[in-house]
Amino acid sequence: MRSVIDIVDLSVEELRELMQTACDIIEHPERYREVCRHKKLATLFFEPSTRTRLSFEAAMYELGGNVISVSSAGASSAAKGESVADTAKTVSCYADIIAMRHPKEGAALVASRAATIPVINAGDGGHNHPTQTLADLLTIYREKGRMDHLTIGLCGDLKFGRTVHSLINAMSRYEDIRFVLISPEELKLPSYVKKDLLGRRRIPYWQTTALEEFMPELDILYMTRVQRERFFNEEDYLRLKDSYILTPQKLKTAKEDLAIMHPLPRVNEISIAIDDDPRACYFKQVANGKYMRMALILKLLKEAGTL
Ligand code: CP
Repeated sequence: MRSVIDIVDLSVEELRELMQTACDIIEHPERYREVCRHKKLATLFFEPSTRTRLSFEAAMYELGGNVISVSSAGASSAAKGESVADTAKTVSCYADIIAMRHPKEGAALVASRAATIPVINAGDGGHNHPTQTLADLLTIYREKGRMDHLTIGLCGDLKFGRTVHSLINAMSRYEDIRFVLISPEELKLPSYVKKDLLGRRRIPYWQTTALEEFMPELDILYMTRVQRERFFNEEDYLRLKDSYILTPQKLKTAKEDLAIMHPLPRVNEISIAIDDDPRACYFKQVANGKYMRMALILKLLKEAGTL
């Protein structure tokens, strides 16, 4: 049974097809309004979410399907000690496809091995968030008109930020991509990501603690929040949380066509004064996420023989 746990579960060709489907949905939503009639999506969210859960649910409704949902760990039998595998087997009896978020790295993979229906990883701990990456890729494509020849700045919590790890993994498969890694020392990109993804694929990258150092070079600036929920120590979080705040002043040397992205939620790392800047793309990412999730649900249900 085909599931999507990591962005590399999808080939570059499949990513292209998903973006094509998403663009077709945007242009012709009426063609898709009934395609998932009588099909059910189960959203199993054992960790908080606004965008991912609601966009999955909106996606299924816009495809004409239905949704059943667990919106917190406390509201399911996980609170009584039920395993992820047993939950996945149980939900396979009720639904046609699962979208799951869990605080533990690897939980979605465990669910996919136990389930008899496709499982989509909607975020597993600090590990992966492939459907956020689908939203990011469609945003890059629609804003820049290409997926290659790009210098991408990643700023903030590069240690715990799962969206950053998935985006590096996805973008480093395209031609002539360079990364600028902007973070405090304590929140640098983990060495396994640097070694396994950037090193092995010989992707050029620079590391800096200064947000403005490479600003004139950037085609994309991907801001992230410091992930409070992954810190063991509140003192460290408080010390690091305001490391980077993007303001209009800091964009003085930026390109006219820079794309400013953020997976959201934002805490304070992008000043609201930037929201009206035409280069701000973070709410476009939110909309793109729904269309890519629609495309992914369609693809997996078709491959499972359910559609
Ligand atoms: N970007 C993202 O995953 O947002 P939520 O945590 O609100 O789902």
